[in-house]
Parts: sequence; C-alpha cells; structure tokens
Amino acid sequence: MATTAAQPATAAATRPFGSAAALSCRECGQRYDLAPRFACEFCFGPLEVAYDFGDISREAIERGPKNIWRYAALLPVPDNVAELPNMNPGLTPLVRADRLAAELGMRALHVKDDSGNPTHSFKDRVVAMAVEAARTFGFRTLSCSSTGNLAGAVGAAAARAGFRSCVFIPAGLEEGKVVMAAVYGGQVVAIDGTYDDVNRFCSELIGDPAGEDWGFVNVNLRPYYAEGSKTLAYEIAEQLGWRLPEQIVIPIASGSQLTKIDKGFRELVALGLVEDRPYKVFGAQATGCSPVARAFEAGHDVIQPVKPDTIAKSLAIGNPADGPYVLDICRRTGGAVAHVDDAAVVDSIALLARTEGVFAETAGGVTTGVLRKLLAEGALDPQAETVVLNTGDGLKTLNAVEAGVTATIKPSLDVFKAAGLV
Ligand SMILES: Cc1ncc(COP(=O)(O)O)c(C=O)c1O
Ligand SMILES: [Zn+2]
Repeated sequence: MATTAAQPATAAATRPFGSAAALSCRECGQRYDLAPRFACEFCFGPLEVAYDFGDISREAIERGPKNIWRYAALLPVPDNVAELPNMNPGLTPLVRADRLAAELGMRALHVKDDSGNPTHSFKDRVVAMAVEAARTFGFRTLSCSSTGNLAGAVGAAAARAGFRSCVFIPAGLEEGKVVMAAVYGGQVVAIDGTYDDVNRFCSELIGDPAGEDWGFVNVNLRPYYAEGSKTLAYEIAEQLGWRLPEQIVIPIASGSQLTKIDKGFRELVALGLVEDRPYKVFGAQATGCSPVARAFEAGHDVIQPVKPDTIAKSLAIGNPADGPYVLDICRRTGGAVAHVDDAAVVDSIALLARTEGVFAETAGGVTTGVLRKLLAEGALDPQAETVVLNTGDGLKTLNAVEAGVTATIKPSLDVFKAAGLV
C-alpha cells in the first residue's frame, strides 16, 4: 500500500469510514475489513459497504450542510468530512414538473435535476465517496474508466483534493465531456475501443506494479464510490417531505446508481426516517445499448452483453456489472426495465426543456422517453407520485439536439414585423 504523504487530511478523523463497519459480499454475505478490495475471495461476488448505524434523526439531517454531507452518518466517510477539501455536491432541485405532468396525463411528477452538480452530472456524488476512500488508503493517483461524466467529476475532485489524476475514456466521446475531463489539468487517455474495453484495460493496470498506488474510483474503490448514489434516494425522500415516491425512473449504465437508490430507500425505512410504503423502480436504457431491458423483456436472469450503438454515450455500457441486481430490484418492486430509440431520446430532451426548462443530457432524454413509453403501455401509473431522474446537463451533449436561431434579421423593427415574428 502506498504511503499517505500526499493526502494527510484525514489524520484528525477518529473514524475514517464513519458508521461503515465492513465490506460484505452481495452474493454470499462473507464480511471483510474496510480495505481497497472489491470482489469476494470465495465467490468473486461484488462487495458493498455494511454499516453500524447509530441514532439518526430527520432534525439532525436537516441541520446539516446544504450538500450531500448532511447524510454523512449514512455514508462511508470520515466524521469530519464536511471540513475536508471536496466538491460538496448534492441537494440539487427536485422540480415539481406540473407542465410535463399535464402533457403526459400524470397527477404528480417531479424531475430530480442533477445537472446542477459541480461538474454537471450525478457523478460528483459518487466521486466524493471515492476521494475519501482514496485519501484514507493513501492512493496518489485518482483514476477511472468512464463514459464521460465520471472523467470530468474525477478530474475536478482530484484537482480540489490534491491528487494527480489520469482518466480513461473510449475514443469518440462528446466534445463537452472531453473538455470537462481535461480542463482540470489531469491526464485524459482515450482508448480505441468501447467502454467495456476501457474497463478491462483498467483492471489490468490495477494488477500491474505500475498501477500500485492508483485509486480507480469505479474499480478498486467501487464499494465506497457506489454508496454516493444513495444520496439521491435520501434527497428525494427529504424533498418530498420525508416520504418515498411511489414510482421512480432511473437511467442504467452499469446499474450501480439504480441499485444504490433502492438501498438508500430501504435504509430510510429501516431507520424509521420514512414510512414504509411500496415503491416501484423503473430502469431506463437506450435501445442501442439495452442489455438489461432485453433480459427483463425476455424474463431472463442472465444478461447478454452487447456492443453499444447509441447517442446516449453516457449509458453505453454493454456488459453492466450491476445488471442482475437491477433486474431483481425492478421485478421485486413491481417496476420494469425498458428502452427507447435515439429519436425518442432527442424528442424527450426537447419535451423536458419545453415544458419544464430543464435541459437534460441524453441520459435524461432516455429516462423521460422511458417514462413516456411506459405510461403509454400502462406499466406506469399516471396517478402515482413519480420521480424521473435527469442525471446530466444538456450542455455536455449539444450534438444530440437540433435547436438553433428562429430567424436571422437586420436590426430593424419593420423587418422583424415583416418576418412575422411578433
Ligand atoms: C449522466 C449519467 N446518467 C446515468 C449513468 C448511469 O450510471 P450507472 O453506471 O450507475 O448505472 C451515467 C453513467 O455514466 C451517466 O453518466
Ligand atoms: Zn462471496
């Protein structure tokens, strides 16, 4: 293990992982000490953080910082996390989407708009967890395999916290995402291949001495990183007045976000912070990369990997690590996993922008498109309180939309009137 010389900030923290007690295998339940490990030695199942929660009240949370650290007692982070240099993401708006609801014939619809995070996607939430784990484990380089948004979030968080960064992306990503990844001064390496090739490459680097003191936020720090998505569940419940929504639509790439939002809801119930009531989880994919939706439709438990081909590049993971867990959750809660084609994604971006003033990246077009499709099919209840996620900012995927000036005219009132624009 590398030394902690570069990041001594947690020295003062008495519990570097707060209420987190262990890592536990999601398949066989075997428990492990909190370390940078991510797979079970016995069954190779993925590991996740298990907690020993103390008393947590709504009031204590409401008194907390106006960012994700208000939920620090529910996360694997040091007790003094709010004082450490980080990006402080979260507490993004839950927009009451009455105009979109009217258009879709729904009673109560909300858009959880995560485009307002520091690097304009929900990835700031997960990276914030990984940074704390990396500090504690003494990694010197922060890294990731990314479909774009994660690369930007890692670049920014590494800059703020004083890590070197080097991120890996598939070649051919949207320009906005590449610029956002690079501007913070780290290395950005494009790999000639798909996201799944990038991920394989990163796993090799971890196993090589060259990658020894590298913290890959979504590989060897994955159990910690993934917990950040629980904050979406906490915020949604708190913003609804400490209530679970009845239906939620979540985009799927690796599926980690969806599984952790479900974990977050269940924790709130277990802690008595919200009343137990049924909620349905709906997963959303683009048709050009829909391995989980296809398995759901076919009633299969095994997910057949695909080669992605869609404008929703942030969701273009052909072999999603959490796919089987997504299937379980959507089936258990009475939800579904569905897909929409690229034309519907573009259409839905425009619909959300036109009705609610929310400019979503393609992932938000996917969730809104699936919302619309499942309502039409009768799988979603128009009367139930529903939350749809927008996980990224439309400015990152400008190429996907067709919008421009209405007219170009001379600066003359007569010309303006003659053009019929009044
Ligand atoms: C904007 C956006 N939404 C959703 C996701 C899906 O995340 P997950 O891999 O947790 O399913 C991603 C993943 O990169 C993303 O960039
Ligand atoms: Zn196991």
